[in-house]
Amino acid sequence: MTIAFQRCINPACAAEFDLLRVLSKCPKCGNLLDADYDWGKMRLPDRIGRLGRVDEWPAGGLAAVSGVWRFGALLPFAPAGRRVSIGEGHTQLRVSPRAAAFAGIKSENFRLQYEGLNPSGSFKDNGMAGAFTHASLAGAKIAACASTGNTSASLAAFAAASGLMRAIIFIGDGKIAYGKLSQALDYGAVTLLVKGDFDDAMARVQEVCAGEGIYLVNSVNPFRLEGQKTTMYRILEGLDWRIPDWVVCPGGNLGNSSAFGKALYELYDHGLIPKLPRLAVVNSSGAPTLSRLVNRFGLKWNGGRVDDDAIAAYYSELDARGEKARTLASAIEINRPVNLKKCLRALERTNGVVVEASDQEILDAKAWIARDGLGCEPASAASLAGARILVERGIMDRDSLVVAVLTGHQLKDPHATVAYHSYPEDKLRSDFGGFGVTASPFANRPIPVANSLGEIIDVIRRTAREG
Ligand code: F0G
Repeated sequence: MTIAFQRCINPACAAEFDLLRVLSKCPKCGNLLDADYDWGKMRLPDRIGRLGRVDEWPAGGLAAVSGVWRFGALLPFAPAGRRVSIGEGHTQLRVSPRAAAFAGIKSENFRLQYEGLNPSGSFKDNGMAGAFTHASLAGAKIAACASTGNTSASLAAFAAASGLMRAIIFIGDGKIAYGKLSQALDYGAVTLLVKGDFDDAMARVQEVCAGEGIYLVNSVNPFRLEGQKTTMYRILEGLDWRIPDWVVCPGGNLGNSSAFGKALYELYDHGLIPKLPRLAVVNSSGAPTLSRLVNRFGLKWNGGRVDDDAIAAYYSELDARGEKARTLASAIEINRPVNLKKCLRALERTNGVVVEASDQEILDAKAWIARDGLGCEPASAASLAGARILVERGIMDRDSLVVAVLTGHQLKDPHATVAYHSYPEDKLRSDFGGFGVTASPFANRPIPVANSLGEIIDVIRRTAREG
């Protein structure tokens, strides 16, 4: 007997479905689905500090060292022997004094949660452990996703490493950083470059999966988000189970923010934490759907009575204006986030906020993160850029305990980094001016030198003097 099932997030419907049905929306009302459990029958630890301890790890294979499955007590939908893993979730909560200074937060109170250390280089591996496990429980032979690059890299890695199924990925043509494309190609995924952007690829993959019986691993999949809850557990563990005041993350398709919210309010609702952190979700101003809907049009979860007409009106306005998402933070270049409603729910439960950061602010924040010896891709740096904006606006206190999540590794998108540090201003303006990036005030410029011992030593001495 399983204690896990699926349930529609719309409280007016709340229809329940079997664990093993393959669904990406409620067949009754079309809303998203949650994974849920019979909490009364779960074996929860008596106190939060016991969560995730080694003695709770399941035996066998990479799942035995998974930073997702060691928290299996809080996502109990697969028996220990069926949990798929590529060794994900060995991530770090890092003290980051320079990033803290950039945000204006007291250094001892600021942490960066570095998810770039996952095997495929992004937080997606946490979620893919969940979705892939469910796919395999459901007997799927082919799994697919649309992606700005990281979900596809993760799916491709899981498919290749496990040998359990084939991977098909849908990418907006020209809309993917090379680091990510190289992963999917190398791992052998069937890679479709769809003429269009992520939103187009997402629409097509949903149609294809529904029509062809292919298993969809995008974050409309409730089991993806179960895996992604574990970032929150690892953050709490890293803080020795102190509760931060704020958790800040980038917002794209809004799976991560939704999963973080679910992780937190489940712990809170079941008496494992005494209070909830506030979530801050950061959009790029080139892909601002959540921020516009929430901050400009006052869209709310509203106990599940979300104003669908307001969302539809916003999207038809985008269409009428021919407006497409456009940001150098390509991972979050998304205008139609599929998890919008779950994110609204997370914001309501955590008294959360949404802000927009420009690409200039994002790239500047990224340069400061790197000064602490952590490399992330542009989208990840939206967290720090957003924290700085919230401090400037007096919404986040400089004494607050703040965790900003870095979602993906620096080497995913080296182009943006190299351009920031090395392009002369006129080239930066001509290449990135369209994204609002016109300067690189925190660049560490490479120094051309002659092939001459004397000149090289002179330059080294000069850099030493300049500090
Ligand atoms: N950061 C990175 C590095 C990402 O790859 C993504 C999403 C996000 C942040 C946003 O997270 O979608 O949960 O709000 N990347 C997806 C992909 C869309 O296809 O790899 P989200």
